[in-house]
This record gives sequence, C-alpha cells and structure tokens, in this order.
Amino acid sequence: MIDHVKRHLEEVQKFSSSNVEEIEGFRVKYAGKKGVLNDLFAFFRDVPVKEKKDFGKELNNLKVAVNEKVKQLQLQSKTSSGNTIISDPSRTAFPIQTGNRHPLSIVKNRIIDIFTQIGFSISEGPEIEDDWHNFTALNLPEHHPARDMQDTFFIQTNPDILLRTHTSSVQVRHMEKNQPPIRTISPGRVFRNEAISSRAHCIFHQIEGLYIAKDVSFADLKQTLKYFTEALFGNSKIRLRPSYFPFTEPSAEVDIYWGLETETDHRITKGTGWLEIMGCGMVDPNVLKNCDINPEEYSGFAFGMGIERIAMLLYQVSDIRLFFENDIRFLKQFKATF
Ligand code: PHE
Repeated sequence: MIDHVKRHLEEVQKFSSSNVEEIEGFRVKYAGKKGVLNDLFAFFRDVPVKEKKDFGKELNNLKVAVNEKVKQLQLQSKTSSGNTIISDPSRTAFPIQTGNRHPLSIVKNRIIDIFTQIGFSISEGPEIEDDWHNFTALNLPEHHPARDMQDTFFIQTNPDILLRTHTSSVQVRHMEKNQPPIRTISPGRVFRNEAISSRAHCIFHQIEGLYIAKDVSFADLKQTLKYFTEALFGNSKIRLRPSYFPFTEPSAEVDIYWGLETETDHRITKGTGWLEIMGCGMVDPNVLKNCDINPEEYSGFAFGMGIERIAMLLYQVSDIRLFFENDIRFLKQFKATF
C-alpha cells in the first residue's frame, strides 16, 4: 500500500499543465472531497499500528506535494497567460497587488492636511524662476554673500533665469497678487547646486508657509509651529535657536526633541538629543515692501522645511537616497492613509 502512495507521489511530481481546467481537474482528483487524499486518509485509520508511522509520513509527503503543485501551476498559468479562463466564477480572486503612494507624497499630504485645517491655502509656482522671485525680492540682492547659502543652476544664455532654490519664490508671487491677511503654504520641488558629499542632493522637496496680517508676533509663529509638530509627531517638544536668513528678521531654526535612548539616537542627534527640522522667522520689512505690502501696517512670519528630512525622521529612514532609487521593496513598506 505504501508503494501505492509513492506511485501517486511520482504522478503528482510529473504532472504539469498550463490549462486552468486541467489544473482544476488535477486538484479535484487529488484534493477534492472524494479525491485520492481523502481516500488514503480514510484508509490510514485501518493501517496496522507498526506501519502507521511510515505510511503517515508518505501520505503527508503526498499531501504537501499536491498542495504545492496546485499552487505553483495556478500561479504560473495566471502570470503566463495574462487572462485566465476562470471555470468556477464563485472561486475567490487571485490576490491583487495595489500600488502605494510614494512616502514623500504621503508626508507632503499629511503636512498639507495639518495646515489647511487651520486655514492655510495652498499656492504653487514655477520651478524655473527668475532672479527677482527667488533672490532679489527676498532681500538677497545680486552679489550679496548670503546667496552662497543657496547656489543653483542658471540658464547659460540668460543668467536671470534659474532653477528655484526654495519655494519662498512662490510666496513672493502670492504676496504680489494678494493683500493681507495672507495664510498660505507652498509645497514643491526645489534645486540646489550642492556637491558636498555623495549624500548631498541637488533636487529635493519643500513646504514653506507664510502668514501675514495685522499684529502678527513671534509668539504666533511659535504657537503655530508647536501645533504643527504636535500634530505630525505626536506629543513633541520643540525649541527655537537663533539663526540667519536674509528674508526674515529675527530668524530661527526649529529643533525637535528626539531623545537619547539608543546608540542611533546619539549618532543622528550628534549626542544632543535634538534634531533640526526647519527654518523660520518674522518676514523682513524689506520683503514686504518689495511685494507692495506696507510693513507699517502688517507683519508676518514664514517657515520652510524639507520634506525628505521630515520623512526620514517620521519613518526612521537612514539614507536620503532611498527616496529616489525607486526600489519597489522600499516603496512597498509605506501605506497611505491620505
Ligand atoms: N527658504 C529657506 C530655505 O530654503 C527656509 C525658510 C523659509 C527659512 C522661511 C525661514 C523662513 O532654506
């Protein structure tokens, strides 16, 4: 009888077909209700005790082989023919792979969602900019040394045209067309000519924000950023460190408290426990003037952050290049709720 099982096993191993009906026939013959396997299992009950062990082992081998064969052939026939003829319409569908949103888009959408809930609109502008909107209007006149902070790519035949280095250029465009109160965020792709290391990137993504109205103070800025970081990171602690940007005065950099629990925490925070996440400040009166907004009447704040950096922190991604390599194994891990 054991030989009988072995013969079945050989037959199962030899069987091959790409025809859906044949595969289904094979499945029914072996694994169906009245199939070979059930017969043999029924027979197994009467096998003498001392033979039970060997017989059971062979029978189990046969069962595993049948299941694997059916699975493998079904998968093959599905992937090779493209359109499978399904003989049994009540059968469950093959698993369908759905695509995911890119992690940078997920983070961008989350940030947009947080700010639009408190009344910020979204504004967009061109990636190819002129000198005025990217630099001069932002209190960065030609030959000003602060331009070194943001070198970029210029059009050779017309150095007035360049790839924008930040989406502050969009804010200038927005202010030129609108009078306060202004509350807007500008997400977008930006470019910098940076060759500091192989990890430095010439293209990345930003979201900048701008709020201009009567009597806007630094306290409003801090409260808005606190609201934002709490909404994005959960209950988080932030601190503002004095900094410099030509278009804001005073200016600050925002750090978020990351913690110092693990060795990685020590490494990424350089032993301080804090991580910089964005720049901000009160809009310089010169910028308002350049956009025909009266600085005697209005004041405002601005802030700007890199989406890659935020995404790295949120998802604990250690290398920025992973966002651009489009390795499906990396991208598959992110599920959008937006
Ligand atoms: N534009 C700055 C940058 O790209 C960020 C920033 C925006 C800083 C607004 C202050 C205020 O680095």
